[in-house]
Amino acid sequence: SGESDLSTILLNWYDRHARIMPWRVPPDRKQAGERPDPYRVWLSEVMLQQTTVAAVRAYFQRFTDRWPTVADLAAAADGDVMGEWAGLGYYARARNLLACARAVVRDHGGVFPANRAGLLELPGIGPYTASAIAAIAYDEPAVVVDGNVERVMARLWRVEEPLPGAKTELTRLAAVLTPVARPGDYAQAVMDLGATICTPRNPACGICPWRDPCRARADGVQATLPRKAEK
Ligand code: ADE
Repeated sequence: SGESDLSTILLNWYDRHARIMPWRVPPDRKQAGERPDPYRVWLSEVMLQQTTVAAVRAYFQRFTDRWPTVADLAAAADGDVMGEWAGLGYYARARNLLACARAVVRDHGGVFPANRAGLLELPGIGPYTASAIAAIAYDEPAVVVDGNVERVMARLWRVEEPLPGAKTELTRLAAVLTPVARPGDYAQAVMDLGATICTPRNPACGICPWRDPCRARADGVQATLPRKAEK
């Protein structure tokens, strides 16, 4: 099937199976046209770097209860933010978080830049985070590639080249599939697929929306992909 068929299949699956997360707009409000808040998307993406969704949930709730807007966070005392971060690890992320919030207030009047290029100029926002926020909050067709996306692409297209060398090819394949319509939902759909069905061990191919087009599954090699170069 063509690329647009593949993304449509996944978006239809996402409409039925999207995980409920505190930084996502609930289905009824989404139906009414509400967009995700870039502040909440940014905070969630920074917290999710090297930390699981399960661990992040409670931290995200406490942060957004205490600091509902980026201006609230920017005005917080360093020690209060470090205190709320305690347990998430990688404390440089919390320092970058505050630096970024303060830059948004100081340089942008408390409003996140409205596109990927502007986001990239903020402290602590690298290519992955800029793409994720641009796609999820602004529906820019940015290519979002994390470990889940690498695994799903390696299996769907049966990429036998090992990581990290395969990264360029996997990013190219992810770009080909990224739709112009609903790229933010699409990015999160691939993440959800990788987290719940196309898992590293024992993928649930029988219930996967991409079970028919998946080349790794057709050849029975899904559990061997993606390959990793020997250290
Ligand atoms: N991991 C990182 N960002 C995510 C998101 N928006 N949804 C699900 N998993 C994620």
